[in-house]
Amino acid sequence: MAEVLPVRLYGDPVLRKKARPVQDFSGLDELAENMVETMFEYGGVGLAAPQVGLATRLFVAAEYALEEEEAEADEEERPKSVLKNLYVMVNPRITYREGTQVGTEGCLSIPGIYSDDVPRDLQIRVEYQDVTGQPHTLEAEGFLARVIQHELDHLEGVLFFDRLPPELRRSFLDEHRDELAEMQRQAKAFLRELKAEQG
Ligand code: NI
Repeated sequence: MAEVLPVRLYGDPVLRKKARPVQDFSGLDELAENMVETMFEYGGVGLAAPQVGLATRLFVAAEYALEEEEAEADEEERPKSVLKNLYVMVNPRITYREGTQVGTEGCLSIPGIYSDDVPRDLQIRVEYQDVTGQPHTLEAEGFLARVIQHELDHLEGVLFFDRLPPELRRSFLDEHRDELAEMQRQAKAFLRELKAEQG
């Protein structure tokens, strides 16, 4: 049975670390299964290893068979029954980018806060390994390309609002100051508890 893992909140230092490449693939399938379970449980479209406390270059992403516009407008209530593809990407690298798009993003580590102005590349090619180490290439565009770029950023310690133009980033942080401060408090409390449990 896959396990739902606690999702780390904004303020947890692991979210700002550059993740290490995966060299040892043993046990990765179990981690990936748990991350997929966690992503579904929290209703997300992607989840990166740092979000469950591991500074490791791995993320999972779900692709849903909905019209892109509908998917973006209805992010919160995407039905799981129309799941089209599930990706587990280990050591991912973007090797081609073209075009630009601006759209809405949120993050399971920054719950309840969104920005409509996040710029991303429109089309990408991503090279990655699966949980057994086999190499793959995927070409993606639109919403899936956005999700992959968001998750890949997590492996660099970058959060979606960091991608906003400087003025919008400042107003985003200003507008959400109290909520973000509360998340930071919760993140610290979680880490204290974790440390106590581990003795
Ligand atoms: Ni995120």
